[in-house]
Formats: sequence, structure tokens, C-alpha cells
Amino acid sequence: MNQFSPTDPDRAMAKVAVIGGGTMGRGIALAAVAAGLDTTLVDQKPGVVATASRYVTDRADRLAHERGQTVGRLTVADDLELAINGATIVIEAVVERPDVKRQVFQTLGRIAHPDALLASNTSTLSIFDLADAAGRSDRVIGMHFFNPAHRMRLVEVVAASTTSDATRADAVALCRVLGKEPIVVADVAGFVTSRLGLLLGNEAMRIVAEGTATAADVDTAMRLGYNHPMGPLELADLVGLDARLDNLRSVAERMDRSEFAPPPLLSEMVEAGHLGRKSGHGFYHYDADGTILDGPSHG
Ligand code: NAI
Repeated sequence: MNQFSPTDPDRAMAKVAVIGGGTMGRGIALAAVAAGLDTTLVDQKPGVVATASRYVTDRADRLAHERGQTVGRLTVADDLELAINGATIVIEAVVERPDVKRQVFQTLGRIAHPDALLASNTSTLSIFDLADAAGRSDRVIGMHFFNPAHRMRLVEVVAASTTSDATRADAVALCRVLGKEPIVVADVAGFVTSRLGLLLGNEAMRIVAEGTATAADVDTAMRLGYNHPMGPLELADLVGLDARLDNLRSVAERMDRSEFAPPPLLSEMVEAGHLGRKSGHGFYHYDADGTILDGPSHG
């Protein structure tokens, strides 16, 4: 058993560092704090950790109470090296750019504790590649959370060929500590969930672009006809259209399959600054709280 096992019964040994305080990082930090784990959240962009910290503290008590847990301590940092000092579990949630993630993993390889579990929340990128950047390939693994990360129960655990069995067991145990249900999958582009979700989203966007149906009707079709809790275009707006574009580019490039190529409508929307819920405009218009205002802005 690893020295820093997340299954440590009193959880006192576990110190989590979440890198990136955006949409996913703040949700992952919230899940960790509400599970009683002391957590440090770091982001390089000024102001992000302050907003992310409010997001976590506003929700942590209630979530911990629902789960019968005591709230862990949240600290924030704007310096990566400070944040991962003493961390036993590191979860990276920075933008979906291979160069940026590789640089983070290079730093982790240099300064993280030798036994620390090093996880990436990437949706599409190669875990093997990140493990290679870290230079300690046995301790690197994918932990792909879903949005909102404190509520969604699935974590796709992605084991590279170099990931050790102990690391895989630690990641699965950590999922359970966080109240999540893990599936363990192989390290292929887009894993299971992104491959399936991206194709559905692409087809939905093409349907809207060709004028076959409105965005609202496409979403209604999948909600009522297929029992999806959320339509594919509402989901794309929630994920962030810029993040979706990065994911498609990454899978299209790694798999060399044209069905993953970003639909022109998506590229145009991102170019126009329509990034979905976070910018107030996407396939729908949103108010400041993220409520849909006035029906679809497309179709
Ligand atoms: P985001 O753009 O909301 O947040 C990323 C954050 O990382 C930004 O605040 C940025 O300032 C920060 N950052 C960038 N470089 C950094 C560095 N070197 N050190 C520290 N912070 C840094 O992105 P989002 O949507 O949270 O995505 C993050 C990751 O999660 C991506 O890999 C994405 O594919 C994955 N993901 C996203 C989902 C979604 O619904 N948005 C769902 C599941 C996974």
C-alpha cells in the first residue's frame, strides 16, 4: 500500500492539490473539501483562485453535510511549487492544451513528493505523454471528472501502459473517497466518454447548421426521446464551446478520423466569443446566474 493512500482511514495523510481553478478545478476542489480532504487550489491567472475559493466555500458545508462528512480545509495559491509542496494527491485541471499540460507535468516530476499520485483531468490527451513529461510514469494516471464535478458521479480512470497497479488502485480508492463511481479504461484518444459525447455533439451542431431543426428542438429530442437529462447543445454550452473545440481538435488529430473534425458552426461561434454559458452566449442566451434567458441563439 502506498504511503499516501487515499484510503487512509482518517484521511489525515491526504493533502490534495488541484491545479487550475476554472470550471473543473473548482468543482474537483469542492468535491475533495466536502469529502473531508485538506485541499490547495492553484491557478496562474490573477483573480481566479479568489472566485474559485468563494465557489467552494459557498457550497462545501452543504455538500459535506449531505454526505455526512466534516469539511476539509481549503487553501489557495498562485504559485504552483508552493501549492504542491507536501501534496500527496495532485489533480491537474488546466486548459486542454498538450504543451501547457506537459509543462505542468514536467514541474510535477521535478518537485512533487516522490510517492504522490499525479492525476490529469484531461478529456482527450494521452496520459502516456503526460507520464513521460513527468518522468515518473508509474504514478501518473487520468482521472476524468464530469461537469459539475462535485455533483456528477462518474470518474473515468485512464490507465496508461506505464501506470502501475498500485496507482490504479489508489485512483479508484480516491474516487470512492470522493463519492464517485469509477470506470477504468485504456489510454486512447478521447477514452470512452469524450469519444461518444463529441460525436453526438458534432451531429447535433451539423443538424442545426443545415437548418433541419433548432437547437432547442434537438435538445428536446434527446431529452424526451432518448431520456438524456440534458440535450447535447445545452451540454456543449455548459462544457464551454472553446473547451469543446480544443477536445475535438485533439481527438481528430490523435485518431485521424474526420467525424471528429470540429463543425464550422462551432469554430465560428468560438471566434465570435460565444463560448456558451460562461460568456452568456452559446446555443442559448444566459443571465449572470447561468439561467437560459430567451431560447436558442442559434437555429
Ligand atoms: P477552464 O478554462 O475553465 O480552466 C482552466 C484553468 O487553468 C484556467 O483558470 C487557467 O487560468 C488555468 N491554468 C492554465 N494554465 C495553468 C498553469 N500552468 N498553472 C495553473 N493554472 C493554469 O477549463 P476547464 O473547462 O476547467 O477544463 C480544464 C480541464 O478539464 C481540461 O483538460 C478539460 O478538457 C477538462 N474537462 C473539462 C470539462 C468541462 O465540462 N469543461 C469536463 C471534463 C474535463
